[in-house]
Amino acid sequence: MVRLTMLPTLALVAACSLTSSTLALNPIAIKGTKFFDSVSKDQFFLKGVAYQPRTLSTGFSDPLSKPADCKRDFALMKDLGLNTIRVYQVDPSLNHDECMKLLESSGMYLLLDLAVPKYAIVRNNPEYDISIWNNVRSTIDAFKGYSNTLGFFVGNEVTNDNKTTVASGYVKALLRDTKNYISTAATRKIPVGYANNDDPDIRLQIQAYFNCGKDEERIDFFGINLYEWCGADKTYQTSGYADRTKEIASYSIPVFLSEFGCNTVTPRTFPEVNSIFGPDMTNDWSGGIVYEWSQEDNNYGLVQIKPDNTVTLLPDYKNLKTALSTLHPTGVKMDAFNKQLPASTCPAITSSWEPSATLPPTPSSAACDCVVSSLGCVASDQAVATTESLGTLLNTICGMTSCDDISSNGKTGVYGKYSFCSPSQKLSYMYNQYYTTVGKKAAATCSFNGMAKLAVAAKSSDQGCSTVKDTNAGTKTGTGNVNSGAAFKYDGVLFSLAVLLTASVVGV
Ligand SMILES: *[C@@H]1O[C@H](CO)[C@@H](O)[C@H](O)[C@H]1NC(C)=O
Repeated sequence: MVRLTMLPTLALVAACSLTSSTLALNPIAIKGTKFFDSVSKDQFFLKGVAYQPRTLSTGFSDPLSKPADCKRDFALMKDLGLNTIRVYQVDPSLNHDECMKLLESSGMYLLLDLAVPKYAIVRNNPEYDISIWNNVRSTIDAFKGYSNTLGFFVGNEVTNDNKTTVASGYVKALLRDTKNYISTAATRKIPVGYANNDDPDIRLQIQAYFNCGKDEERIDFFGINLYEWCGADKTYQTSGYADRTKEIASYSIPVFLSEFGCNTVTPRTFPEVNSIFGPDMTNDWSGGIVYEWSQEDNNYGLVQIKPDNTVTLLPDYKNLKTALSTLHPTGVKMDAFNKQLPASTCPAITSSWEPSATLPPTPSSAACDCVVSSLGCVASDQAVATTESLGTLLNTICGMTSCDDISSNGKTGVYGKYSFCSPSQKLSYMYNQYYTTVGKKAAATCSFNGMAKLAVAAKSSDQGCSTVKDTNAGTKTGTGNVNSGAAFKYDGVLFSLAVLLTASVVGV
């Protein structure tokens, strides 16, 4: 039914769009272990660069919100022969239309990391709360409408050794929710992946973990941040690249180097790109992302961004351009490629791989608002204002009465019913627990030196609150922030096409 009603619109608007623009990029789809242009059906190899200039700004900066810089940089990237950028941090409240258009007209796609430092699952003390989930949804909303959004990373090197494996269960919960949200809120099945570090102790477990279990809890692509090939005297065999290739040879989804470019020998001449984009690796890998565009303190830059906002090409830029210039892998056509491999087997739970099979719950702001409205004693404004000490205040109250309802344990798989609420909501809940149980509702027990205050509860109990779901689960909209009606229609066609063409092959 849907297809029948859509086809005439497609034909009509597609005809108009041919004359209005020839620059739009087709969405990238996944079939089996490879990426494809969903319209031309050509295989797609990522020739990418990490893009997060930071020298000239203090702290957080969203590189896709600065059109003048985008224009300057994307032209140079195009000249270098790149087709993808990887961006680690954006601010979803800013406008990205100009930069995304410039990116598209330069023939490039975006891979976007969903976590930012302020809203991230922390490897040593993992939590997955409403602030993280709300920011991820906002970020998806801000980028789901662009046809050149290639995919999202749900995490980057979160677990990075055998002591931080529990954090991967929290990332997998976020992955589950991210995939579910995209399926309801976007008109195209935008792929979601994970970028791993290369820790020898656990890399195989991580690779298997994010591609095992239920369909809706598995990544669509896998990235490896690989820095093993250092210097021109290394080869495909001696660098470790050949070993890594063996490890992914029977993996069921696309794999690429989500970062590469060891810099212990400088200037870099990038001998590895001959393998990445040549016969050594193009059967098993889908390309790679060079780390990184701008010169920063860690000395990986291809270009130097100067204080007057102009750019100087560094030796690495020219060397990479030379190395890439003869490499144009074509791969296979989508229709001719039918290899399907089984998903991975979940790694055994051991002392070096600890995440419980029971994942954390989906955070719900509505559940947290519901419980807070049932409390007769809550955190005071003074407590809420002192954000840094909320943790200290929580520790104190948790020493006085059980905090099971607000705690989570990713190793045992036990998650309190309000474990995903904000720190101030958790503090309110605990002050109320103390006030009603230990304090028997004596007003004097709702004080905590002014950190708690009495409140008028709108509900008599929190019964039913923990299962209240957020209602803003997203409505399908064709575009994110595209300004003009014409662009809206044009993008609408692309997404409609993408839905028709990729629905059966993306994301299994
Ligand atoms: C964790 O990794 C360290 C460093 O490689 C190793 O010495 C240790 O044996 C590992 N622990 C487990 C439980 O595998």
